[in-house]
Amino acid sequence: MSSRFGPAEVMQSVTVHPTQPISTTITTLAVPASLEAYEVLIKVYAAASNPKDWIHLVSRGLSLNSGDDLAGIVAVVGSEVTNVHIGDRVAAFHPIGQPYGAYAEYASAPAHTVFKIADSMSFEEASTIPLVSLTAAITLFSRQELVAPWDQQTAAQNSKPLLVYAATSALGTFIIKLAKLAGSGPIIAIGGGSSAYLNTLLDKQDVFLDYRSGMDKVKQDVRQIVEDRKLELFHAVDAFSEKGSWVDVSQMMDGGILSVFSGAKRYDDAGIAGDVQVLYTYVGTGHDGAYKPGMPKQPSAEDARGDINFAGGFFNWLGTVVRQGTFSGHPFEVIPGGLDGVAEGLNKLKNGQARGKKLVYQISTDS
Ligand SMILES: NC(=O)c1ccc[n+]([C@@H]2O[C@H](COP(=O)([O-])OP(=O)(O)OC[C@H]3O[C@@H](n4cnc5c(N)ncnc54)[C@H](OP(=O)(O)O)[C@@H]3O)[C@@H](O)[C@H]2O)c1
Repeated sequence: MSSRFGPAEVMQSVTVHPTQPISTTITTLAVPASLEAYEVLIKVYAAASNPKDWIHLVSRGLSLNSGDDLAGIVAVVGSEVTNVHIGDRVAAFHPIGQPYGAYAEYASAPAHTVFKIADSMSFEEASTIPLVSLTAAITLFSRQELVAPWDQQTAAQNSKPLLVYAATSALGTFIIKLAKLAGSGPIIAIGGGSSAYLNTLLDKQDVFLDYRSGMDKVKQDVRQIVEDRKLELFHAVDAFSEKGSWVDVSQMMDGGILSVFSGAKRYDDAGIAGDVQVLYTYVGTGHDGAYKPGMPKQPSAEDARGDINFAGGFFNWLGTVVRQGTFSGHPFEVIPGGLDGVAEGLNKLKNGQARGKKLVYQISTDS
């Protein structure tokens, strides 16, 4: 028997297949009967897609429920969970590749990657936040060693320029939102046609450059800005990480750390500026505390281990700023059809038809 928030015995769950085009099947599964001590079972009201939801499956020939971003209502908590309670409205980051993912009526997540949201925030908006915001936070405050907003004495500790390539992507905008809250700046944001939302995040000291004017022109403009303003550019992120973009971005810098995000690249091109250290961010360290074997440009094992605690601290802080209304989600489009819409959404993502927005599915609608 299911109570208002308590689980039903069975649920509908999507399996995503690495076909061309991406296809899905919906199966009836038993809802997990018991949880680990630190685990939370959530009735899913909204799930959101990330590019890896199809990329990982195609590259490995795997079929699974690859959704990891969700928002909903806590249905059951493990015996040691204290940060959320049954009936709470929450958003969560489900562990990549594990059972009970986001494309289902119920999903599970470890409590340290679950956070409460405000009553005024829609589940759809909340589902756009968890995975990408944690990627952005690990990048800025672990790999790039900026001082996190929750650790700061003064925002001035971070007043360093930051270059964000693919600034109009979800990852780019979350990096900018967090960098702003941490006091970084000016931001040199390089994006394309989806700049309307990005522009609401930038202020007078920041600069927007359009990548469609060509990499050589962008490089020249960045160096001119750096020279005119007497800046030193030691922090940059390449949220695109495709077609050798990191080589050009490294050449825009004065040295320092360049963060990249595609685990399928090696980042050992001869053209990478010699005094730039390339570091790959893998958001799965927030659950696993380790990179997968063979992943490129890893930090020390100790840094990766620290990401589990880091994720808990970050989501705790994030829940507070989300509930205060000082941190919001990404623009989104609801794909109709609930779980039936997942294949359409993933194909849109794959075909580059989801620019400047997240694709979201409404799973449960009762409240
Ligand atoms: N390693 C990890 O843990 C991790 C975690 C999260 C994401 N990622 C990866 O990070 C990347 C971004 O993810 P996302 O969710 O932010 O994707 P997204 O929002 O779907 O990114 C789409 C945006 O990329 C921009 N773009 C397209 N071509 C570009 C180019 N040539 N130069 C610069 N920007 C370009 C477009 O901007 P315009 O519309 O303005 O043209 C588009 O809106 C993906 O590859 C994703 O797999 C990795």
